[in-house]
Amino acid sequence: MQSDTAEKNEATAAATQTQGAAPQRDKTKGEVLLDVQHLSKSFVAATSFFGKPTSFVQAVDDVSFQIHRGEAFGLVGESGCGKTTIGKMLVGLLKPTSGRIIFEGQDVTDLDPKERRKYCRDIQLIFQDPYASLNPRMTVSQIVSEPIITNNILPADQVDARVDELLDRVGIRPELKNRYPHEFSGGQRQRVGIARALAVNPKLIVCDEPVSALDVSIQAQVLNLLEDLRDDMGLTYLFIAHGLNVVKHISDRVGVMYLGKLMEIAPKNELYHNPLCPYTQALLSAIPSPDPHLSRKRIILKGDVPSPIDPPAGCRFASRCFAKVGACEVEHPDLVEVLPNHWCACHRYANVKPEDITKLARQIQYEAARPTYGMGGSDANADPISSDPDTPAEAKAKGEVLPKSK
Ligand SMILES: Nc1ncnc2c1ncn2[C@@H]1O[C@H](COP(=O)(O)OP(=O)(O)OP(=O)(O)O)[C@@H](O)[C@H]1O
Ligand code: SF4
Ligand SMILES: [Mg+2]
Repeated sequence: MQSDTAEKNEATAAATQTQGAAPQRDKTKGEVLLDVQHLSKSFVAATSFFGKPTSFVQAVDDVSFQIHRGEAFGLVGESGCGKTTIGKMLVGLLKPTSGRIIFEGQDVTDLDPKERRKYCRDIQLIFQDPYASLNPRMTVSQIVSEPIITNNILPADQVDARVDELLDRVGIRPELKNRYPHEFSGGQRQRVGIARALAVNPKLIVCDEPVSALDVSIQAQVLNLLEDLRDDMGLTYLFIAHGLNVVKHISDRVGVMYLGKLMEIAPKNELYHNPLCPYTQALLSAIPSPDPHLSRKRIILKGDVPSPIDPPAGCRFASRCFAKVGACEVEHPDLVEVLPNHWCACHRYANVKPEDITKLARQIQYEAARPTYGMGGSDANADPISSDPDTPAEAKAKGEVLPKSK
């Protein structure tokens, strides 16, 4: 087995190949490559004695978003919120219950098998688990060459050279191509998975938590590789992850999901500096700060995520939301563009003037981080904040908007 040190050297060499590239255009605008419209997917959760479905898991519920050519779109949310289900529907592994998937202007939701084969080449999936996603009985050379041969991408006499080129590009020495997956480390296996995905010259790659199974020191290398490949090959990514800290590195825009619903979509910097949805605010507050002098006000959510089998009628986040109002229990809010290119599904911003949106978001955030949030100020032991909050004077000094005194 190659050591991780060797892997790091190869990774560094691969990463340096493309350094110094010129700044790219704004990838959050321009031609729409993928247009997901009102996509839903429910699974049968239980059947009657006669096999009739009696209850359903609402895994994805009326989700719409667009990805532009060359863009990396991050999709985050807690476990079970429907991220993988969306990815699987996009690559054709699952059939949507309703909604449309438009790719390069063509509706690909219900393609016939021949057309689907072509579409499936254009959109590839990189799996979360590099141990389970590679066939242990095939050599790395066979794994990477298989899609080239199956899809008739190159004449037989050129396949070997192409495999070498792909392996070299992802930071694996081509001399190792006759080894089996178990002879490689986790990071190297993920690189093989990436080479296999690239073999069919895809336009969009769905990366389903591609680094979550890897050692922290290897994660950054694989992320750098994906970023380099995007710049070099003009790829577009849907990048799925649990937490906002992983997608921050690679995404141009980020969508936040909760219990099958998209709660917020914004360009990366806008989302990190001006989170509107209370759920996004809570997710962001959980990212550890690299600066030990910065006091972070962590918002601890109380309660469990409701079951997707019988999701609440109102806002999906209402049972854990620290900012809910009466309307939140009645219906789920629509995802609307509350600021330019910043979409949010939250009743709190309904009928608020655009110039007041950020101020309100800061107020919601500030209230949530107060020690007595949700306790009516009476339960001093039930502190939802894991680290020291700013005093009102400190918060004011940092320019935060304080709530009006009651
Ligand atoms: N084949 C299936 N049959 C029944 N339920 C399913 C199936 N696949 C997924 N689900 C359910 O759909 C919901 C969404 O699952 P999904 O795997 O998409 O979540 P996720 O956001 O990718 O979670 P994780 O972060 O843990 O990977 C979950 O409640 C899950 O149990
Ligand atoms: S709609 Fe209501 S419950 Fe949902 S996130 Fe907004 S404030 Fe919270
Ligand atoms: Mg998943």
